[in-house]
Amino acid sequence: MKVAVVGATGMVGEVMLQVLAERNFPITELIPVASEKSVGKEIEFKGKKYSVVGLETAVSMKPEIALFSAGGETSLAWAPKFAKAGTTVIDNSSAWRMHADKKLIVPEINASELTKEDKIIANPNCSTIQMVLALAPLHKKYNIKRIIVSTYQSITGTGVKAVQQLENEYAGTKGEMAYKYQIHRNAIPQCDVFEDNGYTKEEMKLVRETQKILSDKTIAVTATAVRVPIVGGHSEAVNVEFSTDFDVNDVRKILHETPGIVVQDNTDTFTYPMPLYAHGKDDVFVGRIRRDESQPNTLNMWIVADNLRKGAATNTIQIAEYLVANGLV
Ligand SMILES: NC(=O)c1ccc[n+]([C@@H]2O[C@H](COP(=O)([O-])OP(=O)(O)OC[C@H]3O[C@@H](n4cnc5c(N)ncnc54)[C@H](OP(=O)(O)O)[C@@H]3O)[C@@H](O)[C@H]2O)c1
Repeated sequence: MKVAVVGATGMVGEVMLQVLAERNFPITELIPVASEKSVGKEIEFKGKKYSVVGLETAVSMKPEIALFSAGGETSLAWAPKFAKAGTTVIDNSSAWRMHADKKLIVPEINASELTKEDKIIANPNCSTIQMVLALAPLHKKYNIKRIIVSTYQSITGTGVKAVQQLENEYAGTKGEMAYKYQIHRNAIPQCDVFEDNGYTKEEMKLVRETQKILSDKTIAVTATAVRVPIVGGHSEAVNVEFSTDFDVNDVRKILHETPGIVVQDNTDTFTYPMPLYAHGKDDVFVGRIRRDESQPNTLNMWIVADNLRKGAATNTIQIAEYLVANGLV
């Protein structure tokens, strides 16, 4: 299988190459793609060196699959060209997620929606993926009415520039700024740009994408997304109100039995998820599971995952694996 990785020199692209190698994805030819400035640069994959090519060249090579993580504009302009050449695109940007005729996939939840006709498939936002993976089985059992989520998001979610900014600030040197403010020793209550309603785009992604993935527009979601100087992953404090009551131990059991979820929840041993330990892992970690005592049928929990792995690269590659396993490419 010929596979193009578009954005191969970026944060998500690099992890995609790692995950493709680790999971032994059946690649016969890798096509690393980046912007014109990186064309000719060498990257290593499974001990072999490959030269980065431009988008035009990559389309002409007609890969079976193209994994995109090169920003929304690149996806909008180029995904249709790949699709026209017969390539199935799995896109990490927000460009196609809310298009009515594009599927938004978390494989454990809704991969069965995919067909051979889906030539541009959207990968959800990192903070959405980890939240819905934990909420989907609970929604099935107890029916979610409302979600209140506050995020503590890793700087790796903003790409290589943000990691460089933190490193510069840590070392006390000046450099290019990915954020409007210093991120070192700070918490910035703005992830992505503001929309007209006063929420950020990241916050509204949590609203819209959750409803789309869980196929339920009646779920009320309100979000506050905050950037923190952390590299290992995103953390989320999630308060969820159900239609029916639950037993907290049943909730733990359901989550424990959900593929892709690891429950870390023991107050006696101070066991709870943290980005330091989620870093580099593919699972979504859930802990601090407790009843919200301020109102009926409501649960609090703490969800952590590596945004570059399950939040981006791993989820994308799991979609590709599903397509291959089901003869859809
Ligand atoms: N980081 C995350 O946690 C995360 C999670 C989910 C989704 N995403 C999405 O994934 C995408 C990439 O994020 P990132 O964090 O990896 O960013 P990044 O570190 O800044 O990397 C961007 C990549 O895109 C390439 N690129 C930029 N402009 C291009 C163009 N015009 N043509 C071809 N390639 C181009 C860059 O190539 P050069 O090196 O040549 O500039 C680089 O390989 C974004 O859409 C982001 O929203 C990120």
